Amino acid sequence: MPSPIENLVTRRVEALPKGLQDHIHRAQSEARLLAQRHRLDMEKTLLATLAHDVARAMKGEQLLERADELGVSVHPVEHQVPLLLHGPVGAELLRQVDGLEDDEIYEAVCWHSTAHTGLGDVAKAVFLADKMDPHKAHRFPNIPRIRELAMETLDEAIVQFLSDEMTSLIASGGLVHPASVDARNALLLHLQEKAAS
Ligand SMILES: [Fe+2]
Ligand SMILES: [Fe+2]
Repeated sequence: MPSPIENLVTRRVEALPKGLQDHIHRAQSEARLLAQRHRLDMEKTLLATLAHDVARAMKGEQLLERADELGVSVHPVEHQVPLLLHGPVGAELLRQVDGLEDDEIYEAVCWHSTAHTGLGDVAKAVFLADKMDPHKAHRFPNIPRIRELAMETLDEAIVQFLSDEMTSLIASGGLVHPASVDARNALLLHLQEKAAS
């Protein structure tokens, strides 16, 4: 039997545009592979992936309004690129309105666009599964490499993705979210320490 929070998330997803629902289901297929490979809690990983884009259909202005209502602090980079708020706003809607209590699902939804330091494996898998949607291949040409890495180690795959993404953002004069910079540094330091030990 689905849990009350699963029912609420499903209801939110069913109200999203069809194209977005299709993306969510493709991301779930990728998340299933990652959860199997890395022995993650399957039910939780799939529910977090189902939930990750509940606020993705909101326009920038609405995201800024909802962020204000829900008490989400807005970084100047997010003021400029409000789309980056769909993770935090979605996570707070689930927590404050739907009664989500699971911190792993919360952080997976909150940080699926930018990544963040200290994420657990469920959040790492959701971050990668979202990017591994085959329909995003035109946006992320390095995805075959990310997919290969993700089947080995989630951390290396995230570092590779963030490095590629930042390189391309910087080349086009774009803003880089500080959470992505911090996440990449922390993961790189962790991988270096692991390699040295
Ligand atoms: Fe998203
Ligand atoms: Fe997504």
